[in-house]
Amino acid sequence: MTRILAVANQKGGVGKTTTVINLGASIAVHDKEVLIIDLDPQANATSGLGLMEADTNGIHSFVSGELSLAECVVKTEVEGLSLVRGTRHLAGTEIELATQEEREFFLEQALSNSNLSGYDYVLIDCPPSLGLLTINALVAADGVILTVQSEYYALEGLSHLMETIRRIRAYWNKDLMVFGVVLTMYDKRLKLSREVEQEADEFLGKALFTTRIPRNVRLSEAPSHGKPVILYDAYSSGAKSYMSLAREVMAR
Ligand SMILES: Nc1ncnc2c1ncn2[C@@H]1O[C@H](COP(=O)(O)OP(=O)(O)OP(=O)(O)O)[C@@H](O)[C@H]1O
Ligand SMILES: [Mg+2]
Repeated sequence: MTRILAVANQKGGVGKTTTVINLGASIAVHDKEVLIIDLDPQANATSGLGLMEADTNGIHSFVSGELSLAECVVKTEVEGLSLVRGTRHLAGTEIELATQEEREFFLEQALSNSNLSGYDYVLIDCPPSLGLLTINALVAADGVILTVQSEYYALEGLSHLMETIRRIRAYWNKDLMVFGVVLTMYDKRLKLSREVEQEADEFLGKALFTTRIPRNVRLSEAPSHGKPVILYDAYSSGAKSYMSLAREVMAR
């Protein structure tokens, strides 16, 4: 069975794209087939995997139903890791969608019309907002992974996000689960990180993944080389942490 997971948080710069790329690559090296869908007009997941944003045959053509999944998928440097490329034109698509009926269901429709049987996991990279693109991702997904940066106010934003998830369940996707929450840019030497960790633990309980993603410069360098961190520096703490997160995700 294919598991569809959206990686979301309306807050910018909290490690969503880094998680999509590196979790995707780390699952793929376990002999799994993983498809990343770049649903962010910034197209950072696409460039971070060393690919050019898509003028055609990307996410734009796929959600509009113009082209099939097979026509929009490209392979990445990691065996077993494929991508539907993002494009800044998606910002226009979001505006076009806004006036249409069933506007929350475009991605869900496109995916249910596709043959996903070759994929173990589909990971959707969401933009930093709770707009229509993120809603489309949450309606299409079985579960959501939330990335939370280890800093003040991180959990305040989270309650807003939880409210959105409840609304999505009530209206459009009753089975949507919070698959897990991952603390990113964690620094165990910092009191602040440990405080956020403790609060997150109390607030989230079992939803919180045990793996912490440390602040690691290799993770921030890898995208400019167009590689997931396991191909850039497999021995870095960042690479090890995403491997550990991949094992947790596969076990859940
Ligand atoms: N664990 C980490 N250690 C060091 N740098 C990190 C880590 N995670 C992410 N970064 C860096 O922080 C910045 C933001 O990360 P990322 O792009 O993954 O966040 P995002 O939530 O996808 O952002 P946006 O909301 O803009 O899409 C990037 O420059 C990234 O390289
Ligand atoms: Mg991003």
